[in-house]
Amino acid sequence: LLALILTGALGYLLGSIPFGIVITRAFGLGDLRQIGSGNIGATNVLRTGNKPAALATLLLDSGKGAIAVLIARFTVGEDAAQLAALTSFLGHLFPVWLGFKGGKGVATFLGTLLALAWPVGIACCLTWLATAAVSRISSLSALVAAASAVLWMVVLGQGQMALLGGLLTLAIFYRHSANIQRIVAGTEPKIGAGKAKS
Ligand code: G3P
Repeated sequence: LLALILTGALGYLLGSIPFGIVITRAFGLGDLRQIGSGNIGATNVLRTGNKPAALATLLLDSGKGAIAVLIARFTVGEDAAQLAALTSFLGHLFPVWLGFKGGKGVATFLGTLLALAWPVGIACCLTWLATAAVSRISSLSALVAAASAVLWMVVLGQGQMALLGGLLTLAIFYRHSANIQRIVAGTEPKIGAGKAKS
């Protein structure tokens, strides 16, 4: 039980590293929370115009979730891996370093899925890419990919992840409330279209 708690706590700490803020600062691009949507994710880093910084944020925010899951799996087991997926995701959404005001969880969600069951992770990434190819809207792609996650889990024989998947999907939808309003209003900016409001 102690090992379970420790890997869960480690997951939270890894998840709470706000790589978007770290990377934009390291690249000398300013304070990410003053840019575009103010979100700390890779989509908003891209609004600085710096593609390598956005890619690095995407990979690191995904990677921290994946690493948390893999550490928990190899030191404790599969239940701990699911717990670490949850805690690293919550770490990204509620980082202690930023007064618990974190991101929307999409990259970290995809990273944990890739580590928990890679076919599900790949299917969700492809769903994101397909939606983005058609819509050019990052938030819409994230919502469609998140909504597809439980479906992919069941279809790909990973139903034991479905409860976790459903919880994370609900959290992602909740965090995208402002995005959903803009999508409905037709004002959500397209990928690479420059600055967005709130
Ligand atoms: O992953 C976050 C993305 O779905 C939306 O980001 O900055 O457009 O609110 P943003």
